[in-house]
Amino acid sequence: MAESTTDTKSSNQMWGGRFASGPDAIMEEINASIGFDKKLFAQDIRGSIAHATMLAHQAIISAEDKDKIVHGLNTILSEIESGNFEFSRKLEDIHMNVEARLATLIGPTAGRLHTARSRNDQVALDFRLWVKEELQKTEQLLTNLIAAFLDRAEEHAETVMPGFTHLQTAQPVTFGHHCMAYVEMFGRDRARVRHAIEHLDESPIGAAALAGTGYPIDRHMTARALGFREPTRNSIDTVSDRDFAIEFLSIAAICAMHLSRLAEEIVIWSTPQFGFVRLSDAFSTGSSIMPQKKNPDAAELVRAKTGRINGSLIALLTIMKGLPLAYSKDMQEDKEQVFDAAESLELAVSAMTGMVRDLTINTARMKAAAGSGYSTATDLADWLVREAGLPFRDAHHVTGRAVALAESKGCDLAELPLADLQAIDAAITDKVYGVLTVEASVASRNSFGGTAPSEVRKQIAFWRARN
Ligand code: ARG
Repeated sequence: MAESTTDTKSSNQMWGGRFASGPDAIMEEINASIGFDKKLFAQDIRGSIAHATMLAHQAIISAEDKDKIVHGLNTILSEIESGNFEFSRKLEDIHMNVEARLATLIGPTAGRLHTARSRNDQVALDFRLWVKEELQKTEQLLTNLIAAFLDRAEEHAETVMPGFTHLQTAQPVTFGHHCMAYVEMFGRDRARVRHAIEHLDESPIGAAALAGTGYPIDRHMTARALGFREPTRNSIDTVSDRDFAIEFLSIAAICAMHLSRLAEEIVIWSTPQFGFVRLSDAFSTGSSIMPQKKNPDAAELVRAKTGRINGSLIALLTIMKGLPLAYSKDMQEDKEQVFDAAESLELAVSAMTGMVRDLTINTARMKAAAGSGYSTATDLADWLVREAGLPFRDAHHVTGRAVALAESKGCDLAELPLADLQAIDAAITDKVYGVLTVEASVASRNSFGGTAPSEVRKQIAFWRARN
């Protein structure tokens, strides 16, 4: 797919009627979008075929001309797909590259294709179709990621690990429960993707330059042919709207933020200091100087992609914010942001799915860490409330004294002799030891959405039915 810079002195063959000379070389460079919008070739050709078919159906062009046009467009499609198409920067963008080639292939009939449309509704159509397909791909990728988490959650519904707040040991939780937290996050992302598909499911073609057209076109017919629910309802909005692209970027940014939090956890958990997980060879790299190292590069890069995606969102919001209605050329800058973010998001979700599937969980390390840091102190306080009838605030205070004592003796709460505990509060009996293990702690948290294995299994079943 080579690009040629042809003689800049002759005027543009598509719109150059009133121009005596061609653009300056710099003008051509700043104006051209073919370098990136050639990605839209399939959507452009599909849109043109639907448009030509509708024009013939409405007797705006003849059936013979329509057949010639459709045949030529299909030829161009296979030329591009097989790499036998020469893109020209002089022809600015994908729309004019395709139309110029059509003219070479079928002669002056090609000129009838652009009846009752403009590049303004054409680009709005092509880009919408592209974003819609990308959203559908994203939906599937998120489904795969959720499936990976559901499998790991099921496998580890009983595996105990420390739960953190402020990254300090808080209370024991199950690894299955932690996995299900990510299922909730990516489930919300997927719901946002589905809403976005519904929002953008309107066909822009037929809005023409901005005001609609006097030709008797049938916008419902093109909308149906292109798989849209219905046509857009305001031609000015249609050619000046890029909300669908901004929505895609917002969703991508939120999802990337979720992926980045997960990446950060994987980076922390795979350190020798934590040792909760081991990355597979397939998703880590070695160091060229330190032979012992296994680096979580994939997780780090997923974390970093968030920066690019956020950048794209801010870039497009900024591009759009000052534009008077309707179309302005500024809007040509929308595509690179979306293409880059889409590529980053696809890679990040896919890499994360692989990492999650491949992670080796060190259940012994997780369990040991779950029991350290007096993680069952809340269970002692709850026992005092339940069994000894103390108000929670008093129970909290008693437990605090027990923790201080254990700390001064260098032992765990469960290792304190009963006499020591009774010296702090006489109501304590040896039954208390039953709630001080991490297993008892997680099993007791069986409120709806809680960490108890029984609850985690319910939530897994809920999501399995929806995945
Ligand atoms: N390449 C242009 C874009 O991406 C196509 C629309 C151009 N329309 C126009 N009136 N100059 O936005």
